[in-house]
Amino acid sequence: MSAFTGKQVLVTGAASGIGEATARLLRNEGAHVLITDINDELGAPVAAEIGADYQHLDVRDSAAWVAIAASRPWDFAVLNAGAGARFEDLREVPDELFETVMDTNIGGVFYGTRELFRSMADRGGAISVTSSIAGLAAHVQSPIYGASKWATIGWIRSIAPSLFEKGVILNGVCPGLVDTPILGPGGGERMRQMGFKVIDAIEVAQAHLASLQHQEPGTIFTVQAEIPVGIQALQPVTGYQG
Ligand SMILES: NC(=O)c1ccc[n+]([C@@H]2O[C@H](COP(=O)([O-])OP(=O)(O)OC[C@H]3O[C@@H](n4cnc5c(N)ncnc54)[C@H](O)[C@@H]3O)[C@@H](O)[C@H]2O)c1
Repeated sequence: MSAFTGKQVLVTGAASGIGEATARLLRNEGAHVLITDINDELGAPVAAEIGADYQHLDVRDSAAWVAIAASRPWDFAVLNAGAGARFEDLREVPDELFETVMDTNIGGVFYGTRELFRSMADRGGAISVTSSIAGLAAHVQSPIYGASKWATIGWIRSIAPSLFEKGVILNGVCPGLVDTPILGPGGGERMRQMGFKVIDAIEVAQAHLASLQHQEPGTIFTVQAEIPVGIQALQPVTGYQG
């Protein structure tokens, strides 16, 4: 019997990669898992294979969040869906690229936190967000993505204390490079050949389970190759009045 046995757990962006690995791990722990994604062709078969439920959810859709959050008494959630963005020249970047990345990576986390808080407040619950190492350091190859992931850290750190007062934990997980489809076809192997250290999605899934059970709100976990999972110390800012 684990902390997740018999619990209701929602995972976003769970048709592949980190979300899928997390959904599989949670099912192994005996949780009732709802896999959500925009990619129904990938998501529905994964759910059927592991005995989870599947529902289409575009995390940018506020109304869809209202419905899904009200559909069950949620115990845990992993807000994981994310979109990447690369560009060569800032002057060429269309509004749509910025909007897609921001709406998915921070908008989806905002809607998810707000609506799941309605379900969890006073009853108790925990939410873990997939941020990124790109949310803790400059990401010059993908600045919009980096900005969106810094936003998730700011959101978690700023809102977690007030959620905690109502019995809800909000924490985040920051992976380094993970071998998933977001890196593009053959991306993981290409990165390794370029000398980068790439981790497996299961390692991030395990960090999410730790994050969901970690009782100090606003904790940011780091998951990087060949380094034990860490808790990121965020320094106080001189003169900050809060
Ligand atoms: N792979 C990495 O190197 C890496 C590193 C750090 C953080 N991350 C983050 O991990 C998370 C999961 O990515 P992944 O690496 O597993 O890639 P992935 O491409 O395997 O998974 C991302 C999933 O999100 C879904 N998705 C995209 N937009 C969505 C939307 N609007 N609504 C619902 N679902 C949507 C995709 O369909 C996909 O199934 C993302 O937030 C990503 O930014 C990835």
